This record gives sequence, structure tokens and C-alpha cells, in this order.
Amino acid sequence: MKRVDVIVLGAGAAGMFAAIEAARRGRRVLVIDHAKAVGEKIRISGGGRCNFTNLHIAPDRFLSANPRFALSALSRYTQHDFIARVNRAGIAWHEKTLGQLFCDGSAMQIVDMLRADLAAAGGEVWLGTPFSDLTRGDVFRLTTPRGVVEGAAVVVATGGRSIPKMGATGAGYDIARAFGLRLVEPRPGLVPLTFGDAARAQMAELAGLAVPARVGFGKTAFEEGLLFTHRGLSGPSILQISSYWQTGRPIRIDLTPGVEAGAALAGLRQGAGRQEVANALARLLPERLARAVCGWAGVAGRLADLDGAGLRRLAGVLDGWEVLPTGTEGWRTAEVTLGGVDTRDLDARTMQARAVPGLYFVGEVVDVTGWLGGYNFQWAWSSGWAAGQAV
Ligand code: FDA
Repeated sequence: MKRVDVIVLGAGAAGMFAAIEAARRGRRVLVIDHAKAVGEKIRISGGGRCNFTNLHIAPDRFLSANPRFALSALSRYTQHDFIARVNRAGIAWHEKTLGQLFCDGSAMQIVDMLRADLAAAGGEVWLGTPFSDLTRGDVFRLTTPRGVVEGAAVVVATGGRSIPKMGATGAGYDIARAFGLRLVEPRPGLVPLTFGDAARAQMAELAGLAVPARVGFGKTAFEEGLLFTHRGLSGPSILQISSYWQTGRPIRIDLTPGVEAGAALAGLRQGAGRQEVANALARLLPERLARAVCGWAGVAGRLADLDGAGLRRLAGVLDGWEVLPTGTEGWRTAEVTLGGVDTRDLDARTMQARAVPGLYFVGEVVDVTGWLGGYNFQWAWSSGWAAGQAV
């Protein structure tokens, strides 16, 4: 039997951070993970360079049934705190775009920093170790193949459901349910959208093409890259909107972001009115897309010969192409999990379950999900830090 002060379930970003902070406060900490290595998602994140935070962290860039919940942790341990830590570890980094900070070298530098910090603070990690039968009496108790473990507190940092082949399980949700906490139904986020046969046929010839676009759903819109794929649409703007999209409703795509299409077409008519409309449009868009757009709008012939209705249809497709997704690519490729442990049942300052003293939830398992671009790691650091101070 092993006895500690704090058992942390999950050696990902949030679990490691909570463990480091708790160990630095003198707690005896044991981290348990069934994976063979610490921080596997950190290792593959950001194309191997880990987009570890974002300069523009703000609560409105996180989705949750209670958008204000994240505020406390995010403002007590900020992106600047994490940047300072990365600097102290001597890890070089750069801003790529939109405030997104990446390692210059490798994501493994972040993993190594966490491992070294935990070891220096005296924390222990058991890898390759599944757990079961978490119960609570005077203390928490669970079973592992290495024996029974007891702890005064448990931090659940088992992440979400995305990418099951990397070890994601619903274990954290099961624990929440077993202890009477409510769940906001988990669903895939930051994920490519899929389409029915008709729309796929419409886009098939564009597979591989990446263009700037503004993609919107309801009042939310993202102006970032859009990628046509064999299965549907992807790229940052689509991943972002996928977290907001609701089944059965179309998304709206502006293929000439920042330019009013009607005005742009009027300008083209003056300079290139004698050209085939698709050739003229190729001054604004990649040629393949220009041809496709003309097909979708049902226009052909010389641009100068288009009547008002044709011009309006064309401008309508360019400014506000509406396309109805049938679904998402699901857990296999989703970068994050929306939903999770209901924040109404957690204390925003400590991440402790209100009704279960000693039980904490941090990171992606909680119903807080960030935008693409370093927001989700910052939530992992901030929520892990908050629990680490309290546990
Ligand atoms: P995380 O999933 O990292 O860790 C959970 C841990 O619990 C895992 O180690 C798992 O093995 C363990 N576990 C689960 N079930 C268990 C069980 N039953 N028994 C034992 N252990 C168990 N975010 C960002 O901000 N910037 C980025 O660049 C990226 N890039 C990115 C790329 C890809 C491909 C993905 C899939 C995701 C990202 N993300 C990202 C999202 C980011 O990786 C994610 O939000 C955090 O890793 C969440 O951290 P957690 O510690 O909460 O969970």
C-alpha cells in the first residue's frame, strides 16, 4: 500500500502542473497515468513545437456553459506567468501569428521542463499504470497493478475524449458521475467538418487548396485559413467554428475576407470586364476556386455581360457561401473535447468539487474549452496551478 497526500490522475499538461505546484508546497504527490510517457499530447502538439500559450488570453475565448468560470484561474496564473517559466527554463520561443507562442525547438522541451520541475519538487510519477475502484472513506483509495494507493486528495486530470489512440478515455467523466457531479455532454471540438454527397461533390475538385476566409456561425466568426479536403473542410477557421457549430444549421463562408465582393466585382468589371468571368475572378481567388465559385453561382461568359442578378449571385457566393455540415470527423481527429465536468459543481478558485472535499478536476476534463492557438494549454496550466495551490 502506498500513502500520499495528493494522487494526481493523468500526467498531461494539467496533471503535471497541479502536481508540481502541490509538491512545491510540500505535499507528497503521486501522479498515475496509463500512458508510457508524460505529456504525450504536449509532445505532438503544435506540429511538434507546442503552441504553449497565447498572448491574447481572455475569458471570451473559452467555451463553457458558464463562460465566467475560467476567469479566476486564468487571471491568477496568466500567460505571462507561464512565459516567465518557459524563459527561466531557457526554452526559446517565437510568436507565430495571432499571439500564438511556439517553442523554437521542440515540444519535448516543455515536457522535459515539467518532468524536471516535478522531480525537483519531490513528486513521483507512475507510468504504464491503469487505476480502478476510486472510493472515498476517511481518505481516497484506488487500486493499481502496483498495489492500493491512498491519498487525502485526488486531482482528476485525465483529459477529454479526443484522439483515443493516444490514451484518451472517459475515466474522468466516470469519476465525476460516480461522485454525483453533473456533466455537460462531451462532444468533439476543434475538428474538421464533414458534408453530404452533394456538397462534397461541389468541393471535390478543390481538395488540397488553402485560402484565407472568414467562417461564421451565428454571431461568431473567425478569419483564418480554410482548407478544402477530400472529406470536407478543415483549416484553422473551420476548426475554430466547429466548436460553435450546431447540428442541422449551415456555416457561412466569406471567400473574400476584408473585401466587399460587390465592390470588388465592380472594380474587376472596369479592369477586366472583357475577360471570362472565371478568369477575371482569378485575380481575387486561386484559379480552381474562381472556376468553382462561378459554377456554384451559375454564371459564365464575359464578366461585362453579366446582368445584375448574375452579379448579385456571384457576390453572394463570394461573401456569404452557405454550406450545411452533416457532422464532424469526430474523436479520431478532434483536437479537444467540448463539455465535461459541469462547472456549477466546482469551485472556480480551487477547482475542488463543491460537494466532495478533496476531489479536484483540472484541464480538459472540465467544461472549459479554448479557441485554437494555445488557449487550451493555458487552461491546463492555469487550472492545474489553481488546484495545486489548494490541494
Ligand atoms: P491530456 O489529454 O493532455 O492528459 C490526460 C492524461 O490522462 C493523459 O496522459 C492520459 O494518458 C491520462 N489518462 C486518461 N485516461 C486515463 C486512465 N483511465 N488511466 C490513467 N491515465 C489516464 N492545445 C494548445 O493549447 N496548443 C496546441 O498546440 C495544441 N495542439 C494539439 C494538437 C493535437 C493533435 C491535439 C489532440 C491537441 C492539441 N491541443 C493543443 C490541445 C491540448 O493538447 C489539450 O487541451 C491538453 O493536452 C489538455 O491537457 P490535460 O492535461 O487536461 O489532458
